[in-house]
Amino acid sequence: MSESQSKFETLRWRDGRLEMIDQRALPAAVHYLPFDSAAAVADGIRSMVVRGAPAIGCAAAYGVALEAQRLQRKLPAEFSAGMEAGLAVLATSRPTAVNLFWALARMRSAWQTFSGSTPAQIAQMLLAEAQAIHAADIEANRRMGQHGAALLTDGARVLTHCNAGALATAGHGTALGVIRSAVEAGKKVSVFANETRPFLQGARLTAWELAQDNIPVTLIADNAAGFLMSRGEIDAVVVGADRIAANGDVANKIGTYPVAVLAQRHRIPFYVAAPLSTIDAAIANGADIPIEERGADEIRGYGAMRWAPDGVAVRNPVFDITPAELVTGLITEKGVVPAPDAGKLRKLLEKN
Ligand code: MRU
Repeated sequence: MSESQSKFETLRWRDGRLEMIDQRALPAAVHYLPFDSAAAVADGIRSMVVRGAPAIGCAAAYGVALEAQRLQRKLPAEFSAGMEAGLAVLATSRPTAVNLFWALARMRSAWQTFSGSTPAQIAQMLLAEAQAIHAADIEANRRMGQHGAALLTDGARVLTHCNAGALATAGHGTALGVIRSAVEAGKKVSVFANETRPFLQGARLTAWELAQDNIPVTLIADNAAGFLMSRGEIDAVVVGADRIAANGDVANKIGTYPVAVLAQRHRIPFYVAAPLSTIDAAIANGADIPIEERGADEIRGYGAMRWAPDGVAVRNPVFDITPAELVTGLITEKGVVPAPDAGKLRKLLEKN
């Protein structure tokens, strides 16, 4: 299915404002929320209306464009101060996905390029820049899909963790983009989706998204993956990433690391699909990647339901680090990097 045929859009520009599908409501309800300022978009990112590294980056880019639009009638000094405040509030919305900071840096540099123009002209140019980031993300995912699809055999049963699909990007997806592209190429591929405690991105989002495209999906409890691997029921693992360190260590949704360890134990290839914007060359290894910790109530229950004693101590780190040595291949828009390491990633980034 091509993006133009996609049944939903994660983000869209409508009537001079940003609309985002409310991912907290899925799959029970499909509705869009409007956003008209950087602060509102930052709130949408923090509260998980939008999530997934590339989608967060796109949303932040639109947040900057919206702020410029909101301030376009101000005098240049007031406009600049307001823009700085908008960039700052977006930068504190979530800490781990580097695509957020990548998108903000790109928007800042576009703003600087046009700094001699009027606020109204800058606002127009920043909207065009956000739309370019949006379109480039879909294009990168399609390329990643083509490269990655070649790695999946006809009939492959693929395990994925969290949601690295169209909902986590501007469209098509990274890990799910690889699966979509394999299906488009005529391969029969079926998916095991880890439910992904505690926020249930696998159960609520991956299962919904794949069902929209009629791609066979079977939902499993996170702790069932090892059993299925031991029975020979999983042929490959494909996941996304929130930040990849210069040495190839991968930060992704909590629970990815144990899946990678299990895959190695069972000699199952473990692939990471991510655009170059997810590689953070400034961070030497995974130990230095900031890991978000979210609220205790995400562990004590879900929604209004509580199943743990009130006040029980909780840790809720929501990402973990998979060492590069467990990664069979990194699938990017520029091709597949087998067994990624510092040297290979440096070369990959130098070429681009
Ligand atoms: O907390 P989330 O839902 O934003 O976490 C998302 C993930 O961990 C995804 O796997 C990752 O961002 C890759 S999305 C293409």
